Amino acid sequence: MTDHVKVTQADGVQTITLARPDKKNALSNVMYGRLADAILAANNDPALRILVIQAEGDMFTAGNDVGEFAATSRGENTNEERHVVRFLHALAQSSRPVMAAVNGRAVGVGTTMLLHCDFVLLGEDALLSTPFVNLGLVPEAASTLQLTARVGHLRAYEMFALGEPVNATQALAWGLANRVVAKADLHIEADRIARVLAAKPLGSLMATKRLMRNTQAVIAQMQAESTEFVTRLQSPEAKEAFAALMERRAPDFSKFGG
Ligand code: COA
Repeated sequence: MTDHVKVTQADGVQTITLARPDKKNALSNVMYGRLADAILAANNDPALRILVIQAEGDMFTAGNDVGEFAATSRGENTNEERHVVRFLHALAQSSRPVMAAVNGRAVGVGTTMLLHCDFVLLGEDALLSTPFVNLGLVPEAASTLQLTARVGHLRAYEMFALGEPVNATQALAWGLANRVVAKADLHIEADRIARVLAAKPLGSLMATKRLMRNTQAVIAQMQAESTEFVTRLQSPEAKEAFAALMERRAPDFSKFGG
């Protein structure tokens, strides 16, 4: 079976690469499982000090695998463990600093995962979007808390409700990234900064991160969002949204009330 998540380790840096470019790095349940395992393993390995998440191909990720969303909404894979929950908890609770290097589009969880990262590099072609409402869903990964805190209520609401992408310049200005770099330099620059961080005193880096993040509040918000998300996955609105996406047509939500 093809491994859609590649994990490499060098000089204290663990690099996790999304590697399903033919499907725009859409994240399957199996991939979430691999991501969760890689983050947890790094946090238990004294030799690993910094994590970097990046992607192959022309975009960071098209978000959750929509085919799997559609299957869940039809009640088909409800007995499977939702590794996305394990992944988000591992990411939110990572004691090690996490960096992300984002090329092209980062849809849905591709953007919300960045809110848990401690250093975010964007390629100049980066486009961040959170189109949960367009899919009849609600935001996840504690983004209703964290995106709002980061960019303010109105901008966060617009990102959620309109689902339109924010480009790299805008994302930088809004505090969603540390810096924007040329597309060709993205992974080189991420590796360079990761190595600089890896040479810092790890105990101090971890304590600083711990003091800066209210993990308890984040996990509580994730749980509240998850309850609503799972309910909404079964909703007629979500079913219409997934069907429209698969059939490459515009959705029609006019027949559904509130
Ligand atoms: N889940 C599963 N497969 C996906 C996917 C997703 N989220 N996004 C893209 N793919 C697949 C497409 O089905 C297509 O597969 P195929 O070649 O077997 O037909 C392939 O990836 C290429 O996608 P395509 O739509 O042709 O690429 P594009 O460059 O024209 O558009 C996107 C890229 C990301 C704009 C578009 O694919 C898209 O909107 N995807 C859905 C994003 C989304 O809503 N994600 C959920 C967020 S919560």
